[in-house]
Amino acid sequence: MRPAGNVNENQRASLLAYFDGAALNYPQAVEPAFAPLAEALVRYAALQPGEQVIDLGTGSGLAARLAAGEGRFVVALDLSHKMLLAARQQKTPRLIRGDLHRVGLRTDVFDVALAAFAFNSTDPTLSLREACRILRPGGRLVLHEWGVIDPLSELVSDTIAGYAVEEAPPELATLREAMDQPLPWDDIEDEDDLLEALQEAGFARIEIESLTIPVRLPDVGTFIRYKLAWPSRRAELAAMPDEVRRLCLHDLEENLAARAENDGGLLWQPVVVRARACKPARG
Ligand SMILES: C[S@@+](CC[C@H](N)C(=O)[O-])C[C@H]1O[C@@H](n2cnc3c(N)ncnc32)[C@H](O)[C@@H]1O
Repeated sequence: MRPAGNVNENQRASLLAYFDGAALNYPQAVEPAFAPLAEALVRYAALQPGEQVIDLGTGSGLAARLAAGEGRFVVALDLSHKMLLAARQQKTPRLIRGDLHRVGLRTDVFDVALAAFAFNSTDPTLSLREACRILRPGGRLVLHEWGVIDPLSELVSDTIAGYAVEEAPPELATLREAMDQPLPWDDIEDEDDLLEALQEAGFARIEIESLTIPVRLPDVGTFIRYKLAWPSRRAELAAMPDEVRRLCLHDLEENLAARAENDGGLLWQPVVVRARACKPARG
């Protein structure tokens, strides 16, 4: 596997394995939590009839499917073959396997590039530039990424960390090491950094905002399934002795149930940072 900018070969291989691993259960486990976030992103994109749209890092195709309709031509791109299989299973149209660092599509094509949590494992000096390249002059990139961690997500991470094994078996040790390695996107620490990265990639008329998106989930189990869809958490649980794992899951349920509403529903309030940025018109 070739390196991509400052994402080295090992990181790239483990990221791909990570997303392949998440793909197994993505539509069932992640989509219920991410669908309202994708809806918010697509609304923010203010798509027009007949536009040519690409969903970068489409995953199971949530944003691409929401973007379809009104005569729009929508393409969904992802690096993970298994994610693309999940997207196909969800009937996402026009799937392309490609790397955000070198998309391999023509220059000046799309009116809109959507990117939902797609750039955070990339080197933005390459990936944002590629997004700009494939947009037509006057086209726009509309992205969102995670903002500060929300209390429910922190609770899940802390609960699992509290039961995690000290002596990790080799596979978990490798995964932990890979997860601990800094990625180039980590340098984008705030809105000013994102603004600078977008400007350097060639974008203009940039708007950035941080907001909380309320996501109402039917029950605690839906939130736990989403959080455990990610390979690192599954590996942490798998490495625990059976009795410890049972306690951990019990604690997780109890802690979250204490924050549930009267009808058992859970209000998750993730913080996202989102941006709209235009490729300057020629002239
Ligand atoms: C967190 S998931 C988000 C998926 C989807 N956009 C959503 O909101 O549900 C990130 C996606 O980006 C893809 N991805 C990560 N790095 C990529 C790269 N270099 N090129 C293309 N896709 C990439 C992953 O395979 C994964 O499907």
